[in-house]
Amino acid sequence: MKVIHAKDYNDMSRKAANIISAQVILKPNSVLGLATGTTPIGAYHQLIDWFKKGDIDFSQVSTYNLDEYRGLSHDDPQSYHHFMRENFFDHININVANTHVPDGSNPNAEEACSEYDKIVAAAGYPDLQLLGIGNNGHIGFNEPDDHFSKGTHCVNLTESTIQANSRLFDRIEDVPRQAYTMGVQTIMYARMILVIASGAAKAQAVHDMCAGPVTPSCPASILQLHTNCVVVADEEALALL
Ligand code: GLP
Repeated sequence: MKVIHAKDYNDMSRKAANIISAQVILKPNSVLGLATGTTPIGAYHQLIDWFKKGDIDFSQVSTYNLDEYRGLSHDDPQSYHHFMRENFFDHININVANTHVPDGSNPNAEEACSEYDKIVAAAGYPDLQLLGIGNNGHIGFNEPDDHFSKGTHCVNLTESTIQANSRLFDRIEDVPRQAYTMGVQTIMYARMILVIASGAAKAQAVHDMCAGPVTPSCPASILQLHTNCVVVADEEALALL
């Protein structure tokens, strides 16, 4: 695990965008694993800026997002489908047919998850997987558990995640209680993993991810076993390391 120190959120975002940009320049048909949440927004906006300046071309890139709330339509403003269009896809020259997000609108969890596993496997898994981290060490929506998950599956969100994510909803009652998420094993198949973290609320999770025991009670801790994992975090997020 390589830890790169960033000064603040903007510095973290630019460093992360630089790494993603290098990946796409070196391999124009890269398979990118993408993440939602507030942490990656700055990196996406930086990539959009470089695209507009002609420095980066997404025409051959394909993307696979980590997760989606169960029960939200693709057009729901709170869905991760919508988030990705609004914050990234609508502003670059990616072929929308090559962008993929688990189908939260399919109430049949088994079907939605196994279909997603098939398309991620058919793509050969991401060259680079971007990850944020939850305050409790979750990655994607893989919550603390007594085992590491494997493929895409339906999860019950923990109260702390519902609470943390409620800031993006009008009322806490509106936060979906379930989500479909890529499993930890699938995440580990990516050839490179880029974790980004910002702010004091992430300090404990970043510490446990990098320096704690490898345990499913902190799902991100398994990244210590990945052979090519880079963490870009700002001073506040690195305060306990
Ligand atoms: C959600 C997402 C995660 C993300 C986490 C942290 O739970 N499913 O992929 O890493 O939130 O979000 P934020 O970046 O907003 O702190």
